[in-house]
Amino acid sequence: MTEHEARYPVPEHASARAWVDEETYRSRYAQSVEDADAFWLEEARSRLTWFTAPEIGSESRYTPSDVQVRWFADGELNACYNCIDRHLEDKADKVAIYWEGDNPDDHLSLTFAELHEKVCRFANGLKSLGVGKGDTVTLYMPMIPEALMGMLACARIGAIHSVVFGGFSPDALAGRIVDSGSRVVITADESLRGGKNIPLKENVDEALTRPGTEVVEHVLVVRRTGGSVAVNPRDCWYHDVVDPQSSECPPEPMNAEDPLFILYTSGSTGTPKGLLHTTGGYLLYAAMTHRDIFDVHDDDVYWCAADVGWITGHSYIVYGPMANGATSVIFEGVPSYPSHGRIGEVIDKYGVTILYTSPTAVRSLMAQGDDIMASSTRESLRVLGSVGEPINPEAWNWFYRVIGNSRCPIMDTWWQTETGGIMITPLPGATELKPGSATRPFFGIQPALYDNEGQELSGEAEGNLVIKASWPGQARTIWQNHDRFVQTYFSTFDNVYFTGDGCRRDEDGYFWITGRIDDVLNVSGHRMGTAEIESSLVAHEAVAEAAVVGFPHEVKGQGIYIYVTLNEGIQPTDELRAELVKWVRKDIGPIATPDVIQWAPGLPKTRSGKIMRRILRKIAADELDGLGDTSTLADPGVVDDLIEHRQSK
Ligand code: WTA
Repeated sequence: MTEHEARYPVPEHASARAWVDEETYRSRYAQSVEDADAFWLEEARSRLTWFTAPEIGSESRYTPSDVQVRWFADGELNACYNCIDRHLEDKADKVAIYWEGDNPDDHLSLTFAELHEKVCRFANGLKSLGVGKGDTVTLYMPMIPEALMGMLACARIGAIHSVVFGGFSPDALAGRIVDSGSRVVITADESLRGGKNIPLKENVDEALTRPGTEVVEHVLVVRRTGGSVAVNPRDCWYHDVVDPQSSECPPEPMNAEDPLFILYTSGSTGTPKGLLHTTGGYLLYAAMTHRDIFDVHDDDVYWCAADVGWITGHSYIVYGPMANGATSVIFEGVPSYPSHGRIGEVIDKYGVTILYTSPTAVRSLMAQGDDIMASSTRESLRVLGSVGEPINPEAWNWFYRVIGNSRCPIMDTWWQTETGGIMITPLPGATELKPGSATRPFFGIQPALYDNEGQELSGEAEGNLVIKASWPGQARTIWQNHDRFVQTYFSTFDNVYFTGDGCRRDEDGYFWITGRIDDVLNVSGHRMGTAEIESSLVAHEAVAEAAVVGFPHEVKGQGIYIYVTLNEGIQPTDELRAELVKWVRKDIGPIATPDVIQWAPGLPKTRSGKIMRRILRKIAADELDGLGDTSTLADPGVVDDLIEHRQSK
């Protein structure tokens, strides 16, 4: 049997304790689509604590002229209350967070009671800076407890957080501050990753020199490393503002449809979009998917090795686990520091039972060989999870065999910033696994495959992945731009949500995500728009035109390959190449670092001037046989030149 045909039945240890077995999955799935309102209202009432329980289920519709996503609109609750206060009765002294610093000697734990006290002080501190219900606050933070506490403090007082990943550049940060209209920015002096200090506060200072950022009145700075920082009149130290505050702060009653957070993500065109998630539906969906998909019980120690700057961090580091009263490990560092055995060592140190990570992390460890795991036993593990990109069967098998000691089922979870939570996934106690397949839909999720003409495909098929009905975790809109929301997700096909992913369904009805079908790259599980990188490059004085495509990369999944046409008279030198790499890094951030730059005297264009990316992708991937019809090109000769001068990777 080849790896690709392998099947992994539900292990007995998983079925013995699972919340959901196969029979329950089938019957509840059927109910969740046949009587969606009743199903979700019951889940909402039983899993969350409401000030006013909802009577209304979904009021969502996908009519192109009138797209609306709305759930539980007569309910009232507070997300922070659900994540902390309600656990105080029976879990006050349970560890909520084991924080593991970049340096293994740096660690601390916080119980729910301790977290409650700190978050209340934080919330009062924000109030003292004038933050109130409906205000937006930008967080640009390392992976330290204050990042989670800041998010929860916002939720407590009804402020809308917008977390910007700490690896983004000052310009990227500035754009997100301006778009969200944040009057307060929370940051730290520096972050620490892999033994390297990253100057977060300096980046904020630089961001705040950009036009439009005058809206920012206060920068609240957490001291993480003690590194020196400039102190401006608008700056204040976290310990000065927060420590003296009262540890009591009543949670603000919020309507289920009041905004909880904005999170920016890349699309195929234009600037990043601020997806808006609201309080009730999002929290329910994060909590429910977290508990059922990772089969979380009271004695588990759960570790999601993502960053809070991404949706995975929002839903599966903060809101899902905390709403479920779970014990989580929060990791500041990187898997390769101080050695490649770190992940296993952290698992043993805290007795981690559930590990949720990314294919790119797995592949980077796999490249080091099996021996790196010799420093740990990882005996405590029960369930593994993967997210962010398709996991190739080789990486799946390594994850299963080496990290999980061939004992732990892998939940390959497909979802997006827009979906709020996991959509297509196995369940540990119910689903037979096939490496590389995200398997079956979660409760209430109705995936379908459409051809390019909008016809639904049945049975075994490959096509565009769409979702038919709304679910509670769905993003409500793009911040300040509902038209763009409608245009992006509801105009390609009628009456369905369009995901932007391609997908195959096999003979068992299992879904296999094939990757983005738009101009979005997925580099190490980070989403990036080719248009963003292109517009950064053409802003450089030497560049006339640029085209960005992805190519298959062993560790990152996709790498960034750039074709650059220089302005007249500019010499294509190695120095210039290095300068352009630096330029993009500085403009967008290190995650957008180009892997390959090829000088392109001309780009393949149709007679109407459209760049034929299909051809550029093939050349970058060294797939020269399948270039297809080039006769429609304005100048077919450019293709030969590009092939001849393609770069090694
Ligand atoms: C991709 C991350 C295959 C997909 C949660 C999607 C995946 C994009 C998987 C969303 C998976 C995520 N298998 N592809 N298990 N999970 N993707 O918004 O292309 O950062 O559209 O959300 O990642 O990326 P985002």
